[in-house]
Amino acid sequence: NLVVDLNATGVKIQPTMYGIFFEDINFAADGGLYAEMVKNRSFEFLDSKMGWLEPNSNKLSLNNQSGYLSPIKYAGQNTNQTYARVEVKGPKYELINEGFRGMGVKKDAKYNLTINAKKFSGDITKIKIQFIDSLNNVLGETIILPKGKNWKSYETQLTASKTILKTKLKFTFEGTGEIDLDMISLFPVDTWKGRKKGLRKDLVQLLDDLNPGFLRFPGGCIVEGRTLARRYQWKKTIGNIEDRELLVNRWNTEFAHKPAPDYYQSFGLGFFEYFLLSEDLGAEPLPILSCGIACQFNTGELVPMEELDPYVQDALDLIEFANGSISTSWGKLRADMGHPEPFNVKYLGIGNEQWGEAYIERYEVFHKAIKAKYPEIVLVSGSGPFPDGDYFEYGWEELKKLNVEIVDEHYYRQPQWFRDNANRYDSYDRNGPKVFAGEYAAHPKDVEDGSKENNWETALSEAAFMTGLERNADVVNLTSYAPLMAHVDAFQWAPDMIWFNNLESYGTANYYVQKLYGNNSGTDLIAITRDGKAVTGQNDLYATAAKDMIKKEVIIKLVNTSNQPKSIIIDLTGYKLKSKGEIIVLSHPNLMGINSFEDPFTISPKETEYILKRNKAELSLQPYSFSILKFNL
Ligand code: AHR
Repeated sequence: NLVVDLNATGVKIQPTMYGIFFEDINFAADGGLYAEMVKNRSFEFLDSKMGWLEPNSNKLSLNNQSGYLSPIKYAGQNTNQTYARVEVKGPKYELINEGFRGMGVKKDAKYNLTINAKKFSGDITKIKIQFIDSLNNVLGETIILPKGKNWKSYETQLTASKTILKTKLKFTFEGTGEIDLDMISLFPVDTWKGRKKGLRKDLVQLLDDLNPGFLRFPGGCIVEGRTLARRYQWKKTIGNIEDRELLVNRWNTEFAHKPAPDYYQSFGLGFFEYFLLSEDLGAEPLPILSCGIACQFNTGELVPMEELDPYVQDALDLIEFANGSISTSWGKLRADMGHPEPFNVKYLGIGNEQWGEAYIERYEVFHKAIKAKYPEIVLVSGSGPFPDGDYFEYGWEELKKLNVEIVDEHYYRQPQWFRDNANRYDSYDRNGPKVFAGEYAAHPKDVEDGSKENNWETALSEAAFMTGLERNADVVNLTSYAPLMAHVDAFQWAPDMIWFNNLESYGTANYYVQKLYGNNSGTDLIAITRDGKAVTGQNDLYATAAKDMIKKEVIIKLVNTSNQPKSIIIDLTGYKLKSKGEIIVLSHPNLMGINSFEDPFTISPKETEYILKRNKAELSLQPYSFSILKFNL
């Protein structure tokens, strides 16, 4: 028998316990969540014509010398340097944008197109814009009539006549002469919350359904950059979209299962939008900033200590941007962008996967400066890899000496490791820093070949491991699976929690594990034991229990990792519960089972009523199952 003592242990489960890790990897932002459909919309890629095709001539020239659409500068640099000059000599000149692995359009859906243009010479009288399929069939069209020799923004709309996963956008010019083009942008009208130039609705909905306690952004390794010059700089990601300087994505080629030389960061999804998304999701924003060390394994470029100030200033300014009143300069910018109320940031991460002396001495400088001005901000520190290099949990002794508040640990390991480590945090120092299990995922053996499989074994093993996260909620305060999402035609890392193409998306089995934890976390830990001991995998059974004092529920999570059903009896002691309850089961008979675009709900939760008899629950756990029992208090 298992025994649940309904009297709380005194341990609070933090509202931040189950959150989201977001990184622009696998086309998660550009080509994914950020709903822009035109690739290289501003001709700023290193190869300025990338994404643009000229099927019948070669008259597109790029101009980065003489004049700019946007004169705004960042640190003395023009941030939007290049525009395209189209020379049209005959009636047939066509220019095509191929989108991010195509453009997905839905029948009868509307798409907002913006083109910035100015005539340079001659007289181009009309530009026709069409969705075309692979056979050049037209699936919707519109026109603009360019006027004048000054930059002007034209807005129009296309409606698609069919649902097609991979269309392209064709521009046909009438008249002869030269015309300059810049910031050519196409978005579905139907975005998350209907925001213009906003986020993909289906993807945000999947995130919202997780009920996340926090949103960590913008990564991951992209925080660090391959070089310091290519690190993520939040100040370059706010303000007018046109002024946000493009950056080569750190996942452009290296460490990639499928190199993506066309992978850039437009920063249309920048820090303001991340804060807004956190607010939409009801999640605490958790930004991570560069600590002055580039990626990776401590061979990364280091900013000299005497040049660290701008990095520290970035952190201080970020807090002012997020929380400052509108009478501060960064707070005013936030208000000018449409959000006078503060975003109330409480957490800030310094560095991603960094460690060792170089990290500690830099971290100390950040710590001192931030705590002096904003003592209430909770700082998250990085940690380093164990000698086998697979997981990041190293450097605790030094970090403890610095009184670090939260240490970010990362582990990508095989499923068995997760099943064996449900007791990982049982021995952690209760008086030391708290843990942010910031990136973890069970990886099947064959993942190195680029397989994207998020099979049931990985998800079930994570569910088992997570009982240990929850049982140790006094130490573990934040957790997140990683990476979050991946474009099926453009991923660099797998497995991932959510898969999408240009039109659809689905949650993996791992997604449903996260969703069940996120929606049934409880507020107060209670004890669940067998023979007086925590249930951490003995006989393939894992368990944790909690009360939700807001919803007035008891929540018992049980994971059976064996291939046999498991009969159990749970005695609920302490006081009498109402008999009517519910059981939610996530299971699949085959450990290799997966969800897919074709069958997105093969592994998804099933809910049924459950009746408790005199505070005793008798049940047979299905083979390979994760079950949640809930009773009203
Ligand atoms: O989640 C993918 C990568 O794994 C992250 O960018 C990095 O932090 C970790 O090494």
